[in-house]
Amino acid sequence: MAVSTLKIENLHVEIDGSEIIKDFNLEIKGGEIHAIMGPNGTGKSTLASAIMGHPRYDITKGNVWLDGENVLEMDVDERAKAGLFLAMQYPSEISGVTNSDFMRSAINAKREEGNEISLMKFIRKMDAKMDALEMDQSFSQRYLNEGFSGGEKKRNEILQLLMLEPKFAILDEIDSGLDIDALKVVSNGVNDMRSPDFGCLIITHYQRLLNYITPDKVHVMMQGRIVKSGGAELAQRLEEEGYDWIKEELGIENEKVGEKEQEA
Ligand SMILES: Nc1ncnc2c1ncn2[C@@H]1O[C@H](COP(=O)(O)OP(=O)(O)O)[C@@H](O)[C@H]1O
Ligand SMILES: [Mg+2]
Repeated sequence: MAVSTLKIENLHVEIDGSEIIKDFNLEIKGGEIHAIMGPNGTGKSTLASAIMGHPRYDITKGNVWLDGENVLEMDVDERAKAGLFLAMQYPSEISGVTNSDFMRSAINAKREEGNEISLMKFIRKMDAKMDALEMDQSFSQRYLNEGFSGGEKKRNEILQLLMLEPKFAILDEIDSGLDIDALKVVSNGVNDMRSPDFGCLIITHYQRLLNYITPDKVHVMMQGRIVKSGGAELAQRLEEEGYDWIKEELGIENEKVGEKEQEA
C-alpha cells in the first residue's frame, strides 16, 4: 500500500469568535515524526483539538486530509476509525468505566462487526503493552484515569496508542509531569510504533522529550501558525537559546495568539 499522508491545509480555527489558528499548513507522511514546539498560548492544543473534532472549535477555513479523505467531514468516531489518534494534554477521567473495558471498546469500534478482538488476544496484548510501559497490572481494572497521577495519565495515553495502533497520532504535551525514567519509558513506547505505517505529531514546549524521540522535522508555532521549520537541530538550538531569537529574526513582538488584537 502507498504511504499514508495527513495533510493540513490553510487551517483557520476560531473559539468563541476569536481566531486562534491562522493559515496553518503541515503535511506528515507515514513513517515520519514531526514535532511542534512553541511557548504557551500559541495555539498548539487548539490545533490538536480542532483536528480531532472538538465541538468548541470552529473551523472557519481550510482542510484536513487523511489519504485524500476529508477528515473535517467525519464524525469524531469516524476520525478514530480512519486511523487518527489524539493524546490530550489533559485526559478526562471516566468513572465507572475500567481502563480495560475502555480500551477493548475502542479497539472494537475500529473493527468490523463480527471481527471483534477475542478476549484472550486482547488480554495478552494489554498485558504485554503494560509491561513495556512498566505499568502495574492493577491499572487495567481501575476506572479510566480516575485518581491517576499526571504521569500515570500520560503513560495510559501511550498505552492507548500502543493498543489502538493508529495511522497517525497527535501527542499533546505527552511529556508534561513525567520524571526522567517515565519519560524514557514513554519515549520507548512511541519509538516502538515507528514504522512506515505510522506518522506522529508531537506537541511539546520542552526539548527534552526530543532527546529520546528524534523527530524528522521540527516546527515552531507562534501566533497560531508555523513560523519556522527545520530538522532535529532546530530543537537543540531552542533548548540552548530559547525562543527569543526567532521572535527577533521574524519581528514578532507577542508570540501568543489572541492577545495582540486585544491590546491594540
Ligand atoms: N476553550 C477555550 N476557550 C477560550 N479560549 C481558548 C480556549 N482554548 C484556547 N483558547 C485561547 O487560545 C489560546 C491558545 O491556547 P492553546 O491552544 O491551549 O495554546 P498552547 O497549547 O500553545 O499553550 C489561549 O491563550 C486562549 O486565549
Ligand atoms: Mg497546550
